[in-house]
Amino acid sequence: LPTPALAEDGYDLWLRYRPLAAGGATALPTGVERRGDTPTLRAAEAELTRAFAAMAGGTPARGARVVLAGAADPEVARLNLPLADLGSEGYLIRQVRLGNAPAILITGNSDIGVLHGAFALLRHVNTGQALAGIELASAPRIGLRLLNHWDNLDGSVERGYAGESIWDWWTLPEYTGPRYTDYARANAALGINGTVLNNVNAKADSLTAPYLEKAAALAAVFRPYGIKVYLSARFSAPVELGGLPTADPLDPAVQAWWDAKATEVYRAIPDFGGFLVKANSEGQPGPRDYGRTHADGANMLARAVAPHGGIVMWRAFVYADTDPDDRAKQAYTEFKPLDGQFADNVLVQVKNGAIDFQPREPFHPLFGAMPGTPLMLELQITKEYLGYNTHLAYLGTMFEEVLDADTMLPAAGASVARVVDGSLDGHRLSGIAGVANIGADRNWSGSTFDQANWYAFGRLAWDHTLSAEAIAAEWAAQTFRPDPALTGPVAAMMMGSRQAVVDYMTPLGLAHLMGTGHHHGPAPWIADLARPEWNPAYYHRADRQGIGFDRTASGSNAVAQYAPPLAARFADPATTPEADLLWFHHLPWDHRMQSGRTLWAELVHDYDRGIGSVVQMRRQWDTLAPLVDAERHAETAAFLAIQQRDAQWWRDASIAYWRSLNGLPLPDGAAAPA
Ligand code: GCU
Repeated sequence: LPTPALAEDGYDLWLRYRPLAAGGATALPTGVERRGDTPTLRAAEAELTRAFAAMAGGTPARGARVVLAGAADPEVARLNLPLADLGSEGYLIRQVRLGNAPAILITGNSDIGVLHGAFALLRHVNTGQALAGIELASAPRIGLRLLNHWDNLDGSVERGYAGESIWDWWTLPEYTGPRYTDYARANAALGINGTVLNNVNAKADSLTAPYLEKAAALAAVFRPYGIKVYLSARFSAPVELGGLPTADPLDPAVQAWWDAKATEVYRAIPDFGGFLVKANSEGQPGPRDYGRTHADGANMLARAVAPHGGIVMWRAFVYADTDPDDRAKQAYTEFKPLDGQFADNVLVQVKNGAIDFQPREPFHPLFGAMPGTPLMLELQITKEYLGYNTHLAYLGTMFEEVLDADTMLPAAGASVARVVDGSLDGHRLSGIAGVANIGADRNWSGSTFDQANWYAFGRLAWDHTLSAEAIAAEWAAQTFRPDPALTGPVAAMMMGSRQAVVDYMTPLGLAHLMGTGHHHGPAPWIADLARPEWNPAYYHRADRQGIGFDRTASGSNAVAQYAPPLAARFADPATTPEADLLWFHHLPWDHRMQSGRTLWAELVHDYDRGIGSVVQMRRQWDTLAPLVDAERHAETAAFLAIQQRDAQWWRDASIAYWRSLNGLPLPDGAAAPA
């Protein structure tokens, strides 16, 4: 393939349509036939037309035409296609005869299904696969596949490393520029079907009439793409906006206020998705302020949106000063007793781990523990604790790790994925959310490789049985070029990249050692902040004798929150996976590891391995220069240099600090700090 002459700024994401090599180009479809005139079908047609024209690069097409038609089309109906399992969003693509001529049919039970099929066909071509004989069918396994934007109304993005918010509240609702449509295209290509516009640390203002109008304008842009708008709701809004003396969920005046607010929201946005709520966590208001439970609070909001078909996503990330012995236990302690008490349009949204989006955490013990409640999985796409946008860390492997984790509740084979997709407990509602890494940067995510994390989230949300490795390769093909000489090495870099971050930041189950507040860079020495869990020292508990957080019966006993077989496994250092060792145990520095090294030597070895992985990524990336456009190659090369510097910083600072406690010499062969 020729190196594209165009400047590459990363704006196109995975919708980067470039001339195909001659053989592929001649096999492109001769045209697109749309059967039906809806905004969604028009969007599908526009996408295909635009893509085929760009891919053909002037070469005349010779393949069959593509036909976009819903299942209700009489000719499609007569084909008796297996559409029953596609649900309302899935698609089927097949070569058929229509109107007595060969056609590649893209169909589904709804126009949205057809649109998803159009994007699937483009992914197929853009990953270098032949159109001849194409046969694809797929339906999402999880119902609600949402991005959570932590975007503030002043344009800043909490934990955002890609510039300001893409929502321009200033020019909305009158101006809805093309970027909003491109956002919808990128998400629809993955099957993401909802977006929460504003930060979970919500301002009540987002529920006022002017902001509802702005949200409605965005909803109108997203609607043809099958994407609904949701809002984070501030629990105390009845006080702040309504002038009520209380936000007590059992107070009839408060309930009436929310009922009226819901009616107002649905008047502005008839297909509004619902509310996301962070309550009684990190200073946010909530039902506990009035002696009520999380279920009381969630159910009040659920009643308000239920007549309109809305849902409530109530977050289990509760982090208040109530469980000082172990922050990791708090969500389970508060929510598990509420299982079965939530209204049937409530989902409880649970982070992947019990602390907070660390480079590695064991899966959250609430998964499997609340069979009577649909639990949403909340993942963080933005890399708050994984080096922001300058460290290359592919999160597909992290998402896969938690989805595949076996909760063993009620018995083996009960993966987090099966809890979340609702199949284990037969829930009608199911959902997954990713905290977005999207901002106004030209490349959306702050780096080329961070686009892959948005991509992987969307693909796994659609189908959690896909492998992180396959997703990495198909992302690389669409982002750079569908050439195995590129996709193989890029996928290999990506697959090892998150473990590299774990190794140089928080190896062996350590967690939360980043600088307090900004969460970037090492600060294990911070120990004097007012609340114990604000201090990294709270998490590592290192002293002269040893290191790690004892979560067994001799410590906080957080292990008891897991299924009995797992609790037993995690209670014993000998059976605890070494990747999680210091999450569950406080061990002496000379504890013997499986490698034969002492714990101290193993830690140092892991830091060095992490740096080594980054060095290896840099070498690999250098070899790919001939296959990647100069702009994006240079950016990633520079970011990898930053990452190596930061990895060294983490290693040297961590080792120096541990040595100030344990007084041990550097293990044999380990380099002195750089
Ligand atoms: C983390 C993060 C906060 C965020 C919080 C949450 O603690 O640092 O910025 O508000 O998670 O998920 O609510």
